[in-house]
Amino acid sequence: MPSTWCLRLFLLLVFSANAAFSGTIVKTLPGFDGELPFKLETGYVRVGTSEMFYYFIESEGNPKEDPLLLWYSGGPGCSALNGLIYEIGPLAFNITEYEGGIPSLMYYPYAWTKTASILFVDAPVGTGFSFPLTPEGFATSDTLAAKEIYQFLRKWLMEHPQYLKPQLFVGADSYSGISATLVVQHVLDGNLDTNLTQLNLKGYILGCPEIDGKITANAKIVFTHRIGLISDELYNVILVKNFMLSFTLFFLVNNVIFHLVQATKVTCGGDYFDTTSENPACYENLQLINKCTKDLYKNNILEPKCTWASPESADEPARRLLEENAEGFILSPPRIPEFWCRNFNYALSYIWANDQSVRAALNIREGTVHDWKRCNKSLNYGKDVKSVLDYHRNFTNKGLQALVYNGDHDLIIPNLATQGWIGKLNLTIVNDWRPWLVDGQIAGYTIKYSENGYRLTYATVKARRLKKRITEEVDTHRKSPSVGNVITCLRGLFTIILSRESLHFRNSGN
Ligand SMILES: *[C@@H]1O[C@H](CO)[C@@H](O)[C@H](O)[C@H]1NC(C)=O
Ligand SMILES: *[C@@H]1O[C@H](CO)[C@@H](O)[C@H](O)[C@H]1NC(C)=O
Ligand SMILES: *[C@@H]1O[C@H](CO)[C@@H](O)[C@H](O)[C@H]1NC(C)=O
Ligand SMILES: *[C@@H]1O[C@H](CO)[C@@H](O)[C@H](O)[C@H]1NC(C)=O
Ligand SMILES: *[C@@H]1O[C@H](CO)[C@@H](O)[C@H](O)[C@H]1NC(C)=O
Repeated sequence: MPSTWCLRLFLLLVFSANAAFSGTIVKTLPGFDGELPFKLETGYVRVGTSEMFYYFIESEGNPKEDPLLLWYSGGPGCSALNGLIYEIGPLAFNITEYEGGIPSLMYYPYAWTKTASILFVDAPVGTGFSFPLTPEGFATSDTLAAKEIYQFLRKWLMEHPQYLKPQLFVGADSYSGISATLVVQHVLDGNLDTNLTQLNLKGYILGCPEIDGKITANAKIVFTHRIGLISDELYNVILVKNFMLSFTLFFLVNNVIFHLVQATKVTCGGDYFDTTSENPACYENLQLINKCTKDLYKNNILEPKCTWASPESADEPARRLLEENAEGFILSPPRIPEFWCRNFNYALSYIWANDQSVRAALNIREGTVHDWKRCNKSLNYGKDVKSVLDYHRNFTNKGLQALVYNGDHDLIIPNLATQGWIGKLNLTIVNDWRPWLVDGQIAGYTIKYSENGYRLTYATVKARRLKKRITEEVDTHRKSPSVGNVITCLRGLFTIILSRESLHFRNSGN
């Protein structure tokens, strides 16, 4: 009998009181040398008509006491494997001398699993290895995703009651900032129901999160100017020209001027740039911004946007994102691009997760997901919640702790957007804007707020000098003596080490 089946049988016996228990302990993984130096469990939890796949990694510290973090990725549609391998988990691909075959994995020593157990879930349904039992089950939205993830969390905890006691944090990044906020609300609401088991919710962690579409869209324009991607002239035209135009136009109409000026301002500039504006002048200017920025790698504008010309046709239109051709690129011919390119590392995940031996090790149900994608871009997803800012306003009365971080060269969710919505929470600063350090070097800036027992730590992650190879990047952290918690912002862009002091994971008594 293969050992995994023995293990299953063992688990079945151990957890026979809990017929629903669906997890399996994974001792080894293809590509990783020897046994995993941490406890990994994978499995599915049925929620409605969805089978939600998870990777659970027990804290490498003190799992009985350390907090439990629920984590899923953005997109929507990006697999939790992103979080595990490229962001906060204890594994990374070793891309040194990659020559085809199963990519090799190495232990990543600065993972958050040093101090927390992490429950990585492929969510919403249609993401990673999570699948619906019926074709209709693919349909989801912000609202449905949040309900599904909350139900998943509850069911998983019922199957793993030993994790009901540790503090619970809800975490996600990028677009999932919307649904993760709703998940926090579901947990708070659920805890009001005395018939339900109480969840020990302590707070939430959001990485470069989408919170309010309008604030984000607005911040992008300000950011492109501040960081030097568009000219002062263009920015001033967007901000002021409409203003001047309306001023001269309506000059004759005496008293009405002020109001008209205001009205014109909000069509493109002012407190908010209305990026959906049908005002042609505004639209044209927004197109000019787009022209200036479209060829940037928006996740981190300092990194190269990796494209490649397919051998058959070297024409410009044939240039495609490396990732979209991941397999073809790596299989023929296998080589690492000369220049440092994040997508190369991303491409390895397709090869790894679609390999039969990997799927067997992870206990993926056969025939469920034929073509695993790092991010499912064809998810059937309705963006039905435009802003969750009001939820965060309410959370400030709930004694929760929040950690929010953002890369400072991210053009998808610019730091200005995150600072923008945090500013609207009207919190009291308890520790003002100051640098935080790794190896004596400034790694970003942080500020801490508090209000009625609610605490929010915000940290930026400074983009660093480009490295030729990602292994060098990992080595930098390997050398770092200050093992705190490593965060890689969404899409694996910015690696940061936050001290425990700012995470409040352990000493979170007040
Ligand atoms: C990564 O792979 C290279 C080449 O096979 C090897 O020399 C190195 O030790 C590996 N690094 C780790 C951390 O496993
Ligand atoms: C709890 O369950 C009881 C009995 O089923 C029911 O009467 C009561 O309304 C429930 N309470 C809540 C808050 O749902
Ligand atoms: C991605 O989502 C679509 C629509 O929801 C679904 O049909 C497809 O099977 C999913 N792809 C993967 C790889 O799961
Ligand atoms: C915030 O709290 C107020 C007062 O309890 C409530 O009326 C409102 O619906 C809440 N807003 C959200 C978005 O939950
Ligand atoms: C924010 O705080 C300021 C000053 O304390 C106050 O005037 C304002 O009304 C507050 N805004 C909100 C939305 O609570």
